[in-house]
Amino acid sequence: MQKIIGPLALPQNERGEAFAASNIALCKYWGKRDNELNLPQNSSLSLSLGHLGTHTIIQANAAKDEIYLNKENLGPSARFSSRLIAFLDLFRPMPDYFFRIETHNNFPTAAGLASSASGYAAMAKALNAFFGWRLDDINLSILARLGSGSAARSVYTGFVEWHRGEAEDGMDSYAEQLPASWPELRLAVLTVSGAAKSIDSRGGMRRTVETSTLYKAWPEKATRDIEAIRQAIREHDFERLGSTAESNALAMHATMLDSQPAILYWLPETVSVFHKIWRLRQEGVPLYFTIDAGPNVKILLEEKNEGIVRSEFCEAEIVNPFIFNRVNHFPESASGERRTAR
Ligand code: DP6
Repeated sequence: MQKIIGPLALPQNERGEAFAASNIALCKYWGKRDNELNLPQNSSLSLSLGHLGTHTIIQANAAKDEIYLNKENLGPSARFSSRLIAFLDLFRPMPDYFFRIETHNNFPTAAGLASSASGYAAMAKALNAFFGWRLDDINLSILARLGSGSAARSVYTGFVEWHRGEAEDGMDSYAEQLPASWPELRLAVLTVSGAAKSIDSRGGMRRTVETSTLYKAWPEKATRDIEAIRQAIREHDFERLGSTAESNALAMHATMLDSQPAILYWLPETVSVFHKIWRLRQEGVPLYFTIDAGPNVKILLEEKNEGIVRSEFCEAEIVNPFIFNRVNHFPESASGERRTAR
């Protein structure tokens, strides 16, 4: 950490403010080789979610840390706060220095989108603005990774690859944006259930690494898939992109099922969505899915099939990953001020 920000020092500004988009991995990060630094077993590749993400404001505070999530003042013992406070501890210029954090997600928490990805990326960027570190994106990605692995990718928009890296200190484990755009690509977020998961992704991947024998095959599968996805992006080959992403997600879930005790994030409705997508595909509609550590499904589609997805999955929220404008996507901040895009 010192390698990135130098010795701890007081902030140079009164406040820091930033936005980061959420992301969905097409080749998943599943399993760590270092639990403290969030160093992954495999490289991963994601697509950002356009205007859906987290907006964060950070200021100094007297006496204690104060944390607002979607305008609600969370106590220090809330799970969200304790994880965030542990992250903030890395940057305190002195032990009795405190922060006021206001953070908003503009997607429903129940949508099963990884709020820790956009959350810690927005936090790293806001800290950078607050302290005046002037970090480049690679160093921001490393800092965001210390909060949550998938946050390393949310520092960027579009297609993003997070390199596994080899170094023990993690200095070569960061994400970079792929120089590619695909304006016709869409991602539909389908909320099957908003109920809390029995085990979070951190606990799920730890159990998988420790107990699944199938997991041994995962890093090699991920390496093959990421190469296929890179090529599909280069060639705008939608079938290849979708089929590889779907297979990658199912293989990740196979390692979870093989864990002791088994982890199954799917609900009956999740499986029904899989069947429906497979049926539509057999009927000639090119739709593919991906799924993270939860019951909700993300459908990959092309713009020309938006109408079919809207009629077959009426609750789906269709996102254009290559629209980065977030004007008017945020409600008023906790302090009552209206925020606009920058
Ligand atoms: C299934 O990034 O939430 O969404 O590093 O412990 O915070 P931590 O885990 P997290 O894991 C995300 C797992 C995933 C796949 C992915 O986003 O690549």
